[in-house]
Amino acid sequence: MYADSTKGAARAAITVPKLRQMKLDGERIVALTAYDASFARVLDANGVDVVLVGDSLGMVVQGHKSTLPVTVEDIVYHTACVSRGLRSALLIADLPFQSYATPERALDSSAPMLAAGGASMVKLEGAGPMLETIHFLSEREIPVCAHLGLTPQSVLRLGGYKVQGREQAAAQRLLADAEAVTAAGAELLVLECVPSALAAEITARIDIPTIGIGAGPSCDGQILVLHDMLGINSGHRRPRFVKNFLASADSIAAAVQAYADAVRDGSFPGPEHGYE
Ligand code: KIV
Repeated sequence: MYADSTKGAARAAITVPKLRQMKLDGERIVALTAYDASFARVLDANGVDVVLVGDSLGMVVQGHKSTLPVTVEDIVYHTACVSRGLRSALLIADLPFQSYATPERALDSSAPMLAAGGASMVKLEGAGPMLETIHFLSEREIPVCAHLGLTPQSVLRLGGYKVQGREQAAAQRLLADAEAVTAAGAELLVLECVPSALAAEITARIDIPTIGIGAGPSCDGQILVLHDMLGINSGHRRPRFVKNFLASADSIAAAVQAYADAVRDGSFPGPEHGYE
């Protein structure tokens, strides 16, 4: 069991350089989303290293059908709430749809997430035209988490939430994109819904840690949407990469602890949670 249990014994703060060290040391990174101070406190006290205020809040908190309606103000507000509940976990704030359409716009959107929200990093989706933005932000002391594979802000173009990188050309593109976001200055990479073997190859090829969601067991860390791992169904079909940890736990704290333990000992995700 993870040393910092529900008693919340002090542990060293997770910093941006520490994430890279964890990859080098083969120490798996445990991540979850959160949107308020109370849940943030539970996550922080039960072994979670990284907390993301995801634009998933548009779906699980606000009840929208996609993440597209979320605003910068929404993310700053929820990031500040979560920040008050954290002591040692690293906090990432998600840049919402179109809030980083240009590098300058990305800077204006990111600054309040760090300054008023208390985040240590911002996350944005895509490579290609986003490479300039990743470079622009990281040159201005804003650590960036990239997000590749299934990028939910592309739902209109993709026509749904589908596994990415299955065909050889798409897999090669994803590999090249992962190397490009690393070269542009990203500190962390979320890989969503990509075949497990491809995620393993990307993880081995790049120096920055990968955090998987539906990307198999070989990523440097794992993330789930909090509501999904607590079995709170917001009306959509449960993706295969989700496991309900509350189903066999007697409290939310115990469910979070079980998730953290399972990520660290490699028992989650299992083969049944991944894609070929
Ligand atoms: O918005 C979000 O919660 C995310 C995670 C699913 C990685 O992007």
